[in-house]
Amino acid sequence: MTLALGVLVSGNGTNLQAILDATRDGSLDARVSCVISNKTDAMALERAARAGVPALAIPHQTFDTRAAFDRALVSALHEHGAEWIVLAGFMRVLTPEILRAFPGRVVNVHPSLLPSFPGTNAMRQALAHGVKLTGCTVHFVDEGVDSGPIIAQRAVEIVDGDDEHTLAERMHAAEHALLVGVLRDIAGGRVRPSIGAERPRHG
Ligand code: GAR
Repeated sequence: MTLALGVLVSGNGTNLQAILDATRDGSLDARVSCVISNKTDAMALERAARAGVPALAIPHQTFDTRAAFDRALVSALHEHGAEWIVLAGFMRVLTPEILRAFPGRVVNVHPSLLPSFPGTNAMRQALAHGVKLTGCTVHFVDEGVDSGPIIAQRAVEIVDGDDEHTLAERMHAAEHALLVGVLRDIAGGRVRPSIGAERPRHG
């Protein structure tokens, strides 16, 4: 059965675009049921609208608490029939509200080989540390920051003269392939919901 994805974004939305492209060309058996941004001016919302997908801005500043913001996200996601939630450059830490509403079915893409360099500016951190190899991770979301069970990773080499811009280009290409690949595995039942402290089960 076609997977219904709710995609949460804050920025440019190149990962969202990779998902939209893969659903359109039939290489991913999923549909994006809605895209929600906490930033009203996110380019990702334009990408969603261009693809004919419901695009909603829910600015977090208009809520008194993180939990109230997350409850608003949950009702919008339910209203649009989302089954799995993808954080694709969503720069807010989630409360248990969302994790309870979609148990074991929230995934995040992060631009480092976790557990190295969690949080924001992961690529800047990797460059500052002078690591020669970094990469990206898709993992299940838990209540920590980039700390849930890892589903898949892909290495990205750091070459002499790299800056955040040149690294980001290769990182994004790697992320797009990794994320769409994981979503294919979810759609095909090869990756199943991660419940509690369990590691993700493959196959
Ligand atoms: C991506 O590199 C993603 O891994 C990162 O934000 C970028 C969003 O790009 N997410 C995090 O750093 C989360 N901790 P995009 O808007 O072009 O998809």
